[in-house]
Amino acid sequence: MRSVLVVIITLMLLTPLVGAYQVPERGVVYPVMVDRFYDGNASNNGPFYDPTHTNYRLYWGGDIEGLIEKLDYIRSLGVSTIWVSPLNDNINRMAAGSAPYHGYWTRDYKRIDEHFGTWEDFKRLVQEARKRGICIIVDYVPNHSNPATEGEFGALYDNGTFVTDYYRDTKNATVNPYTGIRENVYHHNGNIFTWEGIPLKYANLFGLADFNQLNPWVDSYLTEGALLFVDSGACGFRIDAVKHMELGWLESLYLRLYSRDPLFIYGEYYSLSPERSDDLYELYRYSNVSPVLNIPIRENIVRTLGFVGSLETLSRTLEGYYSLFVYPNKQLNFLDSHDLVRFLNAAKRDDAVERFHMALALTMTLPGIPVIYYGDESYLVSRDGKGDPYNRPMMVFNNTTEAARIIRTLAELRKTNDALAFGDFRTVYANYSVWAFERTFGSHKILAVMNKGSPVSLTLNLDWPDGTYRDALTGAQMSVSNGRASLELGRNSFYVFHIEGEQKEPLIGSVTPYIAQPGQRILIGGAGFGSLGRVIIGGVEARVLSWNSTEILVEVPEMKTENAWLDVVVKTGEKASNPAKLRYYSGNDLPALIAINATNLTGRLWIKGNLPELAEPRPLLRSSTGYYFTVAPLPNGTAFSVELYTGSPWGELEPLNVTLYGFVNSTTVVLGKEPVEVPTSTAEPEPSEGGWGWAYALLAVGVLLAVLWKWKKG
Ligand code: NOJ
Ligand code: CA
Ligand code: CA
Repeated sequence: MRSVLVVIITLMLLTPLVGAYQVPERGVVYPVMVDRFYDGNASNNGPFYDPTHTNYRLYWGGDIEGLIEKLDYIRSLGVSTIWVSPLNDNINRMAAGSAPYHGYWTRDYKRIDEHFGTWEDFKRLVQEARKRGICIIVDYVPNHSNPATEGEFGALYDNGTFVTDYYRDTKNATVNPYTGIRENVYHHNGNIFTWEGIPLKYANLFGLADFNQLNPWVDSYLTEGALLFVDSGACGFRIDAVKHMELGWLESLYLRLYSRDPLFIYGEYYSLSPERSDDLYELYRYSNVSPVLNIPIRENIVRTLGFVGSLETLSRTLEGYYSLFVYPNKQLNFLDSHDLVRFLNAAKRDDAVERFHMALALTMTLPGIPVIYYGDESYLVSRDGKGDPYNRPMMVFNNTTEAARIIRTLAELRKTNDALAFGDFRTVYANYSVWAFERTFGSHKILAVMNKGSPVSLTLNLDWPDGTYRDALTGAQMSVSNGRASLELGRNSFYVFHIEGEQKEPLIGSVTPYIAQPGQRILIGGAGFGSLGRVIIGGVEARVLSWNSTEILVEVPEMKTENAWLDVVVKTGEKASNPAKLRYYSGNDLPALIAINATNLTGRLWIKGNLPELAEPRPLLRSSTGYYFTVAPLPNGTAFSVELYTGSPWGELEPLNVTLYGFVNSTTVVLGKEPVEVPTSTAEPEPSEGGWGWAYALLAVGVLLAVLWKWKKG
């Protein structure tokens, strides 16, 4: 009886926490360009306002209040997450013939732009969205502020107080002795002139003032700015232009944000092709530390369905692409965006709308989280038929279309069928016009089948129980008998057959976030977790904060390891789940510049070291000042060693048999040939509770009593 009571009370204590956070893979993301969505407050529309909505480079009036008014509409699409375009205060002048209606030209990372509203409005948006089961992801732009040579010239404010602009900043800029980069608050190295190496990250992207994130003030300022959104209830970020920042700095930013909440953060890494071009390697090959928008495969999908192309080729391209990731299901698939020409503007075919429906259904069923750009449900197109800025017309609200029905139906299925959220990806059949792929997660399965050619009868090998299955979208039937499935496929058709069996054993689908440090909370999503159990991370038991059959919230324990990836295992009774991967960081990490004297060194070099932070190879850049360098989050107060490797990004790395040593006590760590003696601390020992702490407290009470006694006496 007592143990039953203990279980009931424990469950009551744990349950309220579950549900406070979302497992992102079970949802759908809806990006909104705030200025172009809905005008909820006409008093904030100026300056640079165009009431006629004809000049695409001016403000059109949309704001946070408008977004709040339209939350029920967004909910009607089954969407779980709204990604709002950048909300921070932007410059108050035109640049390049445009006002910053898009929000990507920030001047103050601690304020909300007056065209969009206030922090109070943002908090209300979060609360109202939450009531509807929707969370808010904010587009954040820490690579650059605003145009350096026009507009406000890179002007930067700290909650209203002017800090600097690009020209003032030049006066105090110095050349970093290890990187050769001219820097202060900003980098001063002109515009990006080649899309690789040092310019890619340390020069201005299209003339935008490029931040020096390793400047301690910039580092804290950008972190504090992001934390204001977290503390106001945002559930994550879309980070702009991650290709142009040091991965090591981003990791350290993410860790600081994750230490508040198990957020969902993904990056925009702009690369239009899935080929293994060099500039993708840091994020994809080794590190995999952050989900990204699947920009490289989007073009292949649009081309194959919107123009011509083989579905079989597409299936192979996508399989190759997804194989790059530790968590392919956490990457984000999209069809349309504010940077690319909308599908319906791009597709030049009589059956473009039918193909668009197919492309939407594909986006909703592929591995990865679907991103449905605002207005896709209402066939929003630009009358000018082009990309930026014409792909951002004023929203037309219509949730009664066939597109809306497809989005809603598959969004609902995604909530209940974990094969869509976490399943693997296997092509069952593919030719030029027909493609069938199966996705399985434990007892849940889906079979997506599409045909862009003439009607055809299809028979497949399919290991599903005998029976008749109904497609979620049209109700079409598929019969399975003795491992053979037969179905009729119409022209330009898409079917989603599904099975939702009961999952009896614990099975992990994902961990959010999947990079973590000790003390951080992570959300484990999956099935068959029952009502109580244990979670083991890297062999150590984690503290459970909440538990239900599909979601567990735990705290990451501290452990001694030199490995980058640890196994997370859920145990219920005698049953243990599959191991899921967690990228582990020691904790107390600084974003540190690691520099190596380049005398006697040449070629493409990498380091790998004996800390979890350095366990995956990190590429080095060669500076003009005779050093190799990189940036990594490193645990303060720790001695470490690294091995040098040589090799190209997608090839084998060869050891050079050189060991170098370092000690982390500042944001620049120069490695040497001799092991570093860990300095014995010169600081006063911290008074421990029950030791000096008590003595000081007693002394303070004594002094207080003496003062009171004296005061009373006289
Ligand atoms: C990518 C964003 O999506 C784009 O719209 C923006 O202009 C650039 N980054 C620069 O911030
Ligand atoms: Ca307005
Ligand atoms: Ca940069």
